[in-house]
Amino acid sequence: DWTMGAFRAEAIARIRDQVGAGRVVCGLSGGVDSAVAAALIHEAIGDQLTCIFVDHGLMRAGEAEQVVATFRDRFNIRLVHRDASELFLGALRGVTEPEEKRKIIGRLFVEVFEEEQRRLGGADFLAQGTLYPDVIESVSATGGPSATIKSHHNVGGLPAGMRMKLVEPLRELFKDEVRALGRELGLPEEIVGRHPFPGPGLAIRILGEVTREKADLLRRVDAIFLEEIRLSGLYDAIWQAFAVLLPVRTVGVMGDQRTYDHACALRAVTSTDGMTADVYPFDMGFLARVANRIVNEVRGVNRVTYDITSKPPGTIEWE
Ligand code: XMP
Repeated sequence: DWTMGAFRAEAIARIRDQVGAGRVVCGLSGGVDSAVAAALIHEAIGDQLTCIFVDHGLMRAGEAEQVVATFRDRFNIRLVHRDASELFLGALRGVTEPEEKRKIIGRLFVEVFEEEQRRLGGADFLAQGTLYPDVIESVSATGGPSATIKSHHNVGGLPAGMRMKLVEPLRELFKDEVRALGRELGLPEEIVGRHPFPGPGLAIRILGEVTREKADLLRRVDAIFLEEIRLSGLYDAIWQAFAVLLPVRTVGVMGDQRTYDHACALRAVTSTDGMTADVYPFDMGFLARVANRIVNEVRGVNRVTYDITSKPPGTIEWE
């Protein structure tokens, strides 16, 4: 894509201009925006960039490993991978209220990020994968309707308040352009085309109290759902697809044994911006196949439901 090629060259020149010999830190979340920002900045200034990946232990299956494999091993980007799952899960113990979960995760994320950054000896610039729609939103809205419904802590970006100059090379781009730039930079399709994922991760998809066991269970359910979606070639037609672990147990039967296990919900929606969404109309055969795999392969889950609520009045996430 020649447009993106031109943008890339210009953006690199601008980054070099802005940063000079300074040191830059960038938070990686596993999402597209921070990944593209990091790859672009690395191309501009190499080892003057260090990425910090604060791993809250609430990512989808295999994603934390993939962040490390991609950025450290393949792109040779300096990367601090901080496994902070003990810390996050400890702080979430006993917490059931969704906004409370978001606040705890958002606060801890900043604390851990700052700690890692101090450990690096500080930096002159903070890089963020801010996109054009984020810029518009923060200018026009001091809390639109959705902001009052869910606080949307975004773990990818960092709240201001950190006294560093910002490097935001994606500020003029829309999501599809960021994806095109990511491909141009050679980022793997799994990262570039990935469905959006909320900053608080699986914490808001485990209804009620979050534990490591529940997170492991949900990751397995979610991975089966996504695998079947990919195998059916439906991944790119869907805005977001994921599983939710419900705080209820139901009675089932396995062989000649009665079971009393978790119920889960599957959610898949189409959308253009996440503000409104429609349920994805899978055929029954697909859903039945996924449900069968889940109850047969994941011990501890014995019932699968499909959420058919549109947004509004529902939201995409359950919490
Ligand atoms: P809702 O559930 O409000 O979600 O319909 C709309 C979009 O936002 C994502 N989402 C979040 N993203 N931090 C985030 O970074 C959050 O706390 C959060 N809550 C929801 C959701 O996945 C969907 O794409």
